[in-house]
Order: sequence, then C-alpha cells, then structure tokens
Amino acid sequence: MGRGRWWRWWGLVLVVAVAVAVVATTASQSKEDHLVSRIAFGSCSDQSDPQRIWNAINNFDPQVFIWLGDNIYGDIKHPFKLFGKERTLGPWKNIPRFTPSSKQEMEAKYKKAKTNPGYSRLRENTKVIGTWDDHDYGLNDAGKEFSEKITNQGLLLDFLDEPLDSPRRKQEGVYASYTFGPVSRQIKVILLDTRYHRDPLLSDGTFLGKSQWAWLEKELNGPASAITIIGSSVQVISNHSGATGPLFFFECWGRFPKERDRLFKLIADSKRDGVFFISGDVHFGEIARYDCATGYPLYDITSSGLTKAVEKAVPPPLHLILKFVARLTPTTMRVMDRNCRDSSCTYGQPNFGAIEIDWDATPVTLKIEVRDINGFPVTGVKVPLLELQAGSVDPVAAIKAGEYQRHCSLEVTLPWLVRYRLAILFYGAVAVLLLAMIGITSGAISISRRLLHKYKCD
Ligand SMILES: *[C@@H]1O[C@H](CO)[C@@H](O)[C@H](O)[C@H]1NC(C)=O
Repeated sequence: MGRGRWWRWWGLVLVVAVAVAVVATTASQSKEDHLVSRIAFGSCSDQSDPQRIWNAINNFDPQVFIWLGDNIYGDIKHPFKLFGKERTLGPWKNIPRFTPSSKQEMEAKYKKAKTNPGYSRLRENTKVIGTWDDHDYGLNDAGKEFSEKITNQGLLLDFLDEPLDSPRRKQEGVYASYTFGPVSRQIKVILLDTRYHRDPLLSDGTFLGKSQWAWLEKELNGPASAITIIGSSVQVISNHSGATGPLFFFECWGRFPKERDRLFKLIADSKRDGVFFISGDVHFGEIARYDCATGYPLYDITSSGLTKAVEKAVPPPLHLILKFVARLTPTTMRVMDRNCRDSSCTYGQPNFGAIEIDWDATPVTLKIEVRDINGFPVTGVKVPLLELQAGSVDPVAAIKAGEYQRHCSLEVTLPWLVRYRLAILFYGAVAVLLLAMIGITSGAISISRRLLHKYKCD
C-alpha cells in the first residue's frame, strides 16, 4: 500500500468520526438548548369561559408558556344564599362557599381546558410548563391540610403532559425547574408549589415546606444562568393585604413575612444575578418592584387572569368604581409609568404576561409586559440585564431611617391615614348612608305625626 493511500484512508476515518460527533451532539442537544427569547405566562383560566385570549398569545408566538395556577376552576363555588336548601351565608349556613369536585369532575374540567382550540394550537407550537394555585389544587385558599392533593397532583401533571415515569409524579408537590437555551444565554425557570406544604393562613408557619425549601436552595445555588425566573402562583412583592385589610385580604407571600424574608435571603446568599418573579392569582395585572432585599431590584410581574379578571366580575357601570378603588389603594411597590393603560397601573381585564429577551442588544435587555386580549401592552418594564446584578442598588442607602421610600418601604409602614384610607372611606360611606337613612326615617315620622296632629285638631 502506497503512502498516498494511507493518507486517504486516514482522511476517510477522520471525516466519518467528525460526522458521527456532529450527529451525536445535535441529537443530544434537545429542544431545550435552543435560544429562548419569548416566554408567555398566565393564570386564572376558567374552562367554562370564552377563551379568546389564546389568539393573542399564539400571535406572540412564545417558545415557552408558563401556567401559574388556577389553570382550571376545579372546585365548586356555591352562590351567596341566606335562605333555601344550600345556605352559604349567615349563622345558619349549612355549606361552605367552596367545595371540592370529584376526580371525574376534575378530569372533565381539565379535558375541557385542554381541548380548547386556541390552547390546543399553543400546545402544538410551544413548550408548556406550569404549577398550580388553589382552584386547580382543588379548593379555594387551601393549603397542606387538603385531602385530595395527591390525586389532584396526578391530574395536573396529566394536563401538563408530564411523562409517566417523571420524578415529579413521585415527589410531594408539583414544584419543578427547567433550563432553556445554550450556555451563557440560559434561562432557568423555577416553579414553586405554594399549596401542598402551606400552613393555614394567619399561622405564620411554613409556605413551601421543608423538602421544597431544601430543593429551592439547591436550585438557586446550582449552575449559573443569565436569567432566573421564579414562578409563584401568589404575589411575592406586593402585599396588598397591608393596605386593603381589614376590608379584604389577599393570599400572598406577604402574609407569611418570615418565609418571605427567608426567600429573599436565599436569593441574596446565592449571589445569583438576573432573578425575577412572575405570579398570578389576584385577577388583575400589575408589576411590582422591591429594591431592598438583594443587591438589585427584584421585580414581580403579575398576570391574572387569562379569563378571570376583576372587571369581568361586575357589570360595566361599576368598572369606574373598581378603577377608583384601584387608584385609591395605597401601594409602595407597584411600578408606576405614564404608559400604563389605567392610571393605577393595574389592569382589571383579561391579560397575559409576555417576556422578551433581546440577546443581541448590548447590554442584553429584558422587556416584560402585561398584555390585553388583543396583545397590546397595558403595563410593562424594560430592564437591561446588567441592572439585575448585585451592586445596582445599595439597600442600606436606599432607605433612610424614618423615611418613606418607594420600592423599599413595606405597605404596613405607611402612615395609618394613608394605609387605611380605603377602609376609612368605605366605613365612612356606610356610616353616612346609615345616618342619612335614620335622618330620613325620623324626619318622615315627625312630619307624619305633625300632619296627624293637625288633622285631629281640624
Ligand atoms: C402584609 O400585610 C399583612 C396584613 O396587614 C401583615 O400582617 C404582614 O405583616 C404584611 N407583610 C409584610 C411583609 O409586610
């Protein structure tokens, strides 16, 4: 064999080896290694409502869609009734306002949600992931005490097409994490389970439970990613209860202050850059920001709901009142911007969240918006990724003792006249109304008495 032949032989071997290597790496490179620059998210979708919003979401063409809970309304809501067979009000009430559905009913509801044409189209083109909130967990405001949680965990994971052998089917709770994109442009999505282990409201107990906290710590301290999105069904930054109580209360991390601080400390200690939250639950859209937890602003983008939204729950003439209440509710964390659709910078019609990352911009920028049923933004923020890095705010300098500071002071530290103005206005209005009624009644009585007297004298 001549020398030239040997060379040719070695050349062939080399070409084949390279080809095999290329094929092997492309095959092992799952879909999740593709660059991700568009993510949509949403919550609170009643399977029985019209779901026109999927058109707008499909037009946004997200590569990933994240469910943040109340993906169906699984439990049964009984109407307010003082009398009759099923009484939900008054000291004589005989059933609670919400009761769980049977497994068959839950399955039927999931089927209805999953076969919606708009959502089906999304599933064909998009990686869909998600967690749950109370109504798909199975019962309004429920926590760890809820008896159907194991059955319902399986049903949610069926809905999300979780493989049958997935470890997520064997753990206690539906928390999970995902990493998308190529090295140095990775997006990590951490989805929390805020139901399975949660102690009762007002208990000041645990929010995530021991096993989930340990898992979360590992996730945050794991390999770095350019962006880390933490999905929580309930709001993390805004604590509206602090300013709407004692009129009404919301479920949120703020109701468990110790656990909330633990979450912030975990993020700070992990030295992880590029973390922000997404949330749902409240039936309106809002963007909040907290500057005094880690060395950089922590954003919480709330989109709620895909169909369930506060203004849908009341007739149109009352929308103005809702907008007024939203404007009046004090907030220290909300991102206010002139470009918001409503002056309160909340949005009470159906909406979804849209995250866009411009990886080619210098610096890389993050655009996060809450969008309406036609895909138009109603509130949004544009942040260079560099701003989500330790050192971009100094928490000590940010708040001076005794001073109120936007994006830093807690709602509960507002002066009481501001903090309780909603309650004061409400109870004040009720008092005025009562007084007016008493006045009118006593006036009417005295006039009729006088008339009667006059008649008698005549
Ligand atoms: C949130 O508001 C509730 C109700 O007023 C209060 O008990 C709680 O301490 C607040 N949490 C934070 C973190 O301010």
